[in-house]
Amino acid sequence: MGTRGLIFSGALLLLLLLLLARTVLVISATPPFACDPANPSTPTFGFCQTTLPIDKRVSDLISRLTLEEKIQQLDDQAPAIPRLGVPKYNWWSEALHGLSNGGHGMHFIGLTIPNATSFPQVILTAASFNPDLWYRIGQAIGVEARALYNAGQADGLTFWSPNVNIFRDPRWGRGQETPGEDPTTASKYAVSFVRGLQGDSPTGERSGQLMTSACCKHLTAYDLDRWNGSVRYTFDARVTAQDMEDTFQPPFRSCVEQGRATCVMCSYNRVNGVPTCADYNLLTKQVKKTWGLDGYIASDCGAVSMIYDSSHYAKTPEEAIGYALKAGLDINCGKFMHQHAGSAIQKGNISESDIDRALFNAFSLRMKLGLFNGNPQKLPSGNIPPSQVCSTEHKNLALQATQEGIVLLKNTDNILPLAKSNVTSLGVIGPNADAPPSLMGNYNGPPCEVITPLKALQSSVNNTRFVAGCNIVACNATKIPEAVQLASSVDYVIMFMGLDQDQEQEGLDRTDLVLPGMQQTLISKVAEAAKKPIILVLLSGGPLDITFAKDDPRIGAILWAGYPGEAGGSAISSIIFGDHNPGGKLPVTWYPQEFTKVPMTDMRMRPDPTTGYPGRSYRFYTGKTVYQFGYGLSYSNYSYEFEAKAATSIYLNNSLSPQATSNDLNTLSYDIASLGFHTCGDLKVSSKVGVKNHGPMAGKHPVLLFSRSPSTEHGRPVKQLVGFQSVHLEAGESTKVEFPLSACEHLSRVVNDGKRVLDKGSHFLIVGDEEHQINIIS
Ligand SMILES: *[C@@H]1O[C@H](CO)[C@@H](O)[C@H](O)[C@H]1NC(C)=O
Ligand SMILES: *[C@@H]1O[C@H](CO)[C@@H](O)[C@H](O)[C@H]1NC(C)=O
Ligand SMILES: *[C@@H]1O[C@H](CO)[C@@H](O)[C@H](O)[C@H]1NC(C)=O
Ligand SMILES: *[C@@H]1O[C@H](CO)[C@@H](O)[C@H](O)[C@H]1NC(C)=O
Ligand SMILES: *[C@@H]1O[C@H](CO)[C@@H](O)[C@H](O)[C@H]1NC(C)=O
Ligand SMILES: *[C@@H]1O[C@H](CO)[C@@H](O)[C@H](O)[C@H]1NC(C)=O
Ligand SMILES: *[C@@H]1O[C@H](CO)[C@@H](O)[C@H](O)[C@H]1NC(C)=O
Ligand SMILES: *[C@@H]1O[C@H](CO)[C@@H](O)[C@H](O)[C@H]1NC(C)=O
Repeated sequence: MGTRGLIFSGALLLLLLLLLARTVLVISATPPFACDPANPSTPTFGFCQTTLPIDKRVSDLISRLTLEEKIQQLDDQAPAIPRLGVPKYNWWSEALHGLSNGGHGMHFIGLTIPNATSFPQVILTAASFNPDLWYRIGQAIGVEARALYNAGQADGLTFWSPNVNIFRDPRWGRGQETPGEDPTTASKYAVSFVRGLQGDSPTGERSGQLMTSACCKHLTAYDLDRWNGSVRYTFDARVTAQDMEDTFQPPFRSCVEQGRATCVMCSYNRVNGVPTCADYNLLTKQVKKTWGLDGYIASDCGAVSMIYDSSHYAKTPEEAIGYALKAGLDINCGKFMHQHAGSAIQKGNISESDIDRALFNAFSLRMKLGLFNGNPQKLPSGNIPPSQVCSTEHKNLALQATQEGIVLLKNTDNILPLAKSNVTSLGVIGPNADAPPSLMGNYNGPPCEVITPLKALQSSVNNTRFVAGCNIVACNATKIPEAVQLASSVDYVIMFMGLDQDQEQEGLDRTDLVLPGMQQTLISKVAEAAKKPIILVLLSGGPLDITFAKDDPRIGAILWAGYPGEAGGSAISSIIFGDHNPGGKLPVTWYPQEFTKVPMTDMRMRPDPTTGYPGRSYRFYTGKTVYQFGYGLSYSNYSYEFEAKAATSIYLNNSLSPQATSNDLNTLSYDIASLGFHTCGDLKVSSKVGVKNHGPMAGKHPVLLFSRSPSTEHGRPVKQLVGFQSVHLEAGESTKVEFPLSACEHLSRVVNDGKRVLDKGSHFLIVGDEEHQINIIS
């Protein structure tokens, strides 16, 4: 090669290097952070001195801000403060069941990381009754969030997830986002998911820096979106002290106390007349002081402005801001603070110290996330690479979650699982069989990959044919003859029916519990034409009245698959062909259509026999059900046995005399508050339950332990879930599951005025059809 050649290839190399450098620059955009050592002012800023305690650093930062700058920081899209080297911050991101592009903090478009793992919608994950799984999902999302941040694709690490409102009414469009109707399940879900997402250990230890920040929403008694003229923005939930204490608040309390969530969001609705974002007793006294929130309170988006313009609780915008900040709100979602906080100061509705208090909580959290420590690559989470997003591990976890959640509702003559060798042709019918959006639920992000049920079944059985049968999920037009023709010409038929976001979503509650449009007609015609009993797979968040299918012998098997996420098709197929043994259990009561006569606006959990009001959830509703809370079959048969045969006695040995509680003159009860922490600590009951898998398959099986009183008088629940554990058992294997219980926590009840009491006398633990008696003796 001559000199000219050398020069030429040198130039080419330079060009290549330049191109490469450009590409690298674009790909490895720097994450936003404060206290850059390259900034000559940094050493002069007290808030940048990482050796100082965080409260000192935050006070220093706030003391440097002008009033105008402070006001700008009160809204969720907080602008940069260039003179202090503080970048902008987006408080609002979503991570309900995977990183989402909802909110403003996460960016996916055309960048290094275009997708994120999409786990099943929460209601399905809840059906696994497996807290370890919930923790690992939260943890995986936290890791993916940091990978996005490290790659320069996030300008916020505060997630407004999980949604732990109680799924009180089956029609609620957002019930799908929640862990269901039971406060114990919702509490455990909250704790496990939050610990995972924030990077704490499964038992709640924190090593220092927060991985991300989680937010328990929507405080409180929020479970109506839009129904029969009632809208969440103006709805006033009338809630009794009793229901508040033992139904609506427990998930939030656990989320803060044990989950150590660093945020709580106040909701749109009012509770007993007061907008939750304006309620000092709720936000400051209960959440911050009693529960000890170490973090910030955010408003649902627009909720502060609605204190003025929707509920008219405040007469002016300034007064609304006064109510919110003085109640304990820290971050407003929206632009309302930008617009009105200045005049609120002028008009005397707030003072600068109210703003300083809010900013203290906000900036403390940004520091705990490590965003004021200089180069984020030096953080413990600084080396999480893009390859951790959509990793094989996370994709497998999504598959596992879907498999563990799916509930087998019917399986006449063990028609499932199908033996692949026996299926020479398969007919797949239904509008949910090949529709990726139907798998995702809401608040999803761009998934890693999507395998629809049709695709998964096609890869198992070569001769698989598909007819949608309905135009859309609403099914207002059908192709019944085509579907019938297919059904009659194949070995087996699998139908994919149910709901999608057009039927139930944020802002839209259902009015019916039956399948939409002509779905039922299509199913019945197909079942009639098929050679063998058909298999019906339902996608939905909320419960369905499918009594017709339950009773129809031509429908051999029914599976409920929630909104199963990116791995939905593979998970469903693995269950149908017996590669996975289903073990999910319903986290909500499936009510019959008649339940829709009950006004959704009636918040009462307890029944009222004088008016025929039936009450809500398995704890109080005793009417007809389609399927009960906790119901779910398996390919295996399991049996239970309490280890202790004789009744267990617990002696209080307490000098207190029991009180006849105000609403119940026949039973003597102890006020838990006056029994005190130490006595309660001594009142432990350990219940051991033997569980056996009688085969024929290995399987994961959640064991659900309930307690009940001998009576349901005076608002006592019929029964109450007190513990659950998921065990894996080989065919023929048995094990013992231990439930550590506390009488004060698990055998107590809440009386009219919201006080918790422990009744003297007998109590029962229940698992399956087995009962064990416990006597409280003074
Ligand atoms: C807010 O200021 C108005 C006067 O502008 C006053 O009437 C009202 O009482 C104040 N409200 C609060 C909560 O401070
Ligand atoms: C295949 O189908 C036949 C007839 O329905 C049944 O008897 C047999 O048990 C099936 N085989 C398997 C492996 O399920
Ligand atoms: C991955 O994300 C990109 C954009 O972020 C989107 O266009 C693509 O459809 C996503 N992949 C899948 C399988 O949905
Ligand atoms: C399915 O089709 C593929 C490709 O046509 C073929 O290789 C495979 O053997 C077939 N499998 C069965 C079970 O028929
Ligand atoms: C079905 O309902 C959709 C949505 O309401 C509507 O746009 C469409 O025109 C309807 N189709 C038929 C055939 O009625
Ligand atoms: C819906 O609202 C109408 C009008 O206010 C009322 O008559 C009706 O009873 C409500 N429906 C239910 C199920 O409560
Ligand atoms: C399941 O096992 C229990 C306990 O051994 C037994 O009583 C029951 O008949 C079995 N059910 C089925 C469907 O095999
Ligand atoms: C309470 O008294 C009973 C009977 O006198 C005794 O067996 C038991 O150990 C005592 N329990 C506690 C917690 O002191």
